[in-house]
Amino acid sequence: MLETNVVNGTVVSGVVGSYDYQDTLAASQKVNWRIEDIIGGDKKLDFTKRFMPESLARVEQLPFLNDVEKRVLNQIRGNTYLSIFVIVEEFIVPYVLDHIRPSLDEDDYRSRAFLQFVGEEVKHIQLFKAFCEEFKQGFRSECKVIGPAADIGKEVLSNDPLGVALAILMIEWMTQDHYVDSVKDDGDIDPLFKSLLKNHWLEESQHAKLDTMMVEHIAAGLDAEAIARGVDAFFAIGGFLDEGLGQQVLFDLEALETATGRTFTADERKAFIDVQTQANRWTYLGSGMVHPKFLQTMDRLGADQRQRIDLAAPIFS
Ligand SMILES: [Fe+2]
Ligand SMILES: [Fe+2]
Repeated sequence: MLETNVVNGTVVSGVVGSYDYQDTLAASQKVNWRIEDIIGGDKKLDFTKRFMPESLARVEQLPFLNDVEKRVLNQIRGNTYLSIFVIVEEFIVPYVLDHIRPSLDEDDYRSRAFLQFVGEEVKHIQLFKAFCEEFKQGFRSECKVIGPAADIGKEVLSNDPLGVALAILMIEWMTQDHYVDSVKDDGDIDPLFKSLLKNHWLEESQHAKLDTMMVEHIAAGLDAEAIARGVDAFFAIGGFLDEGLGQQVLFDLEALETATGRTFTADERKAFIDVQTQANRWTYLGSGMVHPKFLQTMDRLGADQRQRIDLAAPIFS
């Protein structure tokens, strides 16, 4: 495997690339599913079942909810998941296009692999939106979601490019764990939602490899100071997303009260906010931050940068 190493504060990468563009392209062409094979027609969400793995939803940590209320909250978290992924994928698309645009003549397989990646990401946005629509029809009462996506994307993209690439890398690797968690979950998860996580995982595993090479491409030639600035930006993006997730927890609480007709006591509200804040942090930040492949990339950026992740990760566990 080809390595990127830090020597005297400068990242040297004789040849950039932990993975192979041609292999990644071939793998993605093999997977390449169609939206209509996953949702539509008689392929519907089953609202008698939970949608999310418990490791992400953490509804069992709220003892004041009965089983039906736990299921309803799990489903609300499922809808939030769909919407959050629409938000993040909408800023990944222009970022990757901008990354590849100035270097289209570098390597034809590289260009094709990234263009395939972008096409798949737009398809994922359509898939998540189709699931959101299906959810709306079956769930009936309102579930608010943070946004608008364009404003969130604009703020994220205004950061240092290495920081944005690291945030995207974290997001792509986390989807791998989300599917694995849904398989491990011994609860009764809706097969359609599980198939969404599975099919997303299948294509994201190529994206995560391409993102790894994208980070290496950007980091090649950057000195230690510039890399530290990139990691600063990564944390700034994380903080910004975390703030949005805090607002989302309040929306989810409101949605649960509306759907179940319950009004929670001050203590119950506090418990809900505490548990669900950590559940959201783990789902959208922590599970990517501690992914071994993400940490491998951080190691290559320097032991000091990797250490910054290790110190921050427990906050998002
Ligand atoms: Fe995706
Ligand atoms: Fe992706």
